[in-house]
Amino acid sequence: MFDLGASIHEFQPEVVKNRVVKEETSNREGTQGVPVWFPVSLSVLVFVALLSFAYGSGGVSGDAYAPYTTKELRKFVRDHGGHGGCILPLSGSQLYGVYCGPCHQDHGFGIEGVAPPLANSEWVVDVGINRLAKIIYHGVKGPIEVLGKEWSLSMPPMGKVADLSDEEIALLINYIRTNEDWGNSASRIETLDVTRALEGVRGRDLPWTEEELKALPIQ
Ligand code: HEC
Repeated sequence: MFDLGASIHEFQPEVVKNRVVKEETSNREGTQGVPVWFPVSLSVLVFVALLSFAYGSGGVSGDAYAPYTTKELRKFVRDHGGHGGCILPLSGSQLYGVYCGPCHQDHGFGIEGVAPPLANSEWVVDVGINRLAKIIYHGVKGPIEVLGKEWSLSMPPMGKVADLSDEEIALLINYIRTNEDWGNSASRIETLDVTRALEGVRGRDLPWTEEELKALPIQ
């Protein structure tokens, strides 16, 4: 039957205590568990690292993620040495390739539904560039006749959008006016001619219309 004496003996405090002490000792002697300080300090380290990244961006400036527009980039280049510094200025043909070619095409003959030709265009090879400089700076919209054909599209304000300097616009103009491959052989112009053409109208927001341009002097 049930041995009451033995049970009572088993639950005597000193016996239980002995057992516990014995078990603890054997545990330590057996499999060496991971010391408690290891996971604790690891979590503290990870936590501190995350905090430092969250608040200090790991030493990377938050600006690195800011979206830059062409305009801001160009301003940065100009403010940090610009054309006189380590950044080489683009030539007229390079500027054309970047800012005009995608629409008017490298061959200069334009493309249906996108942009009219610059080769032989009266707007390009006119005696003066008063209208041409304005087209490049502010864009042009609506019906415009080029070499006897009417186009009714819209050109963005390239000069404004890309923050082209008067010098760059002059380089572009000389490139398209004297491009022999296109059959253009108009006179070369100076940066000052561009500055004069844009005097008083730089702040304008709207693209030009053919009617407005025709009302302006050619030179
Ligand atoms: C996004 C396309 C696009 C870009 C980029 C562009 N143009 Fe145009 N351009 C046009 C369109 C479209 C027209 C005709 C607009 C209309 O129908 O009123 C035009 C018209 C012109 C005209 C007058 C018409 C003609 O064919 O002679 C000139 C000059 C001109 N662009 C020069 C330039 C130059 C120089 C650049 C580069 C700085 C340039 N364009 C960049 C689309 C573009």
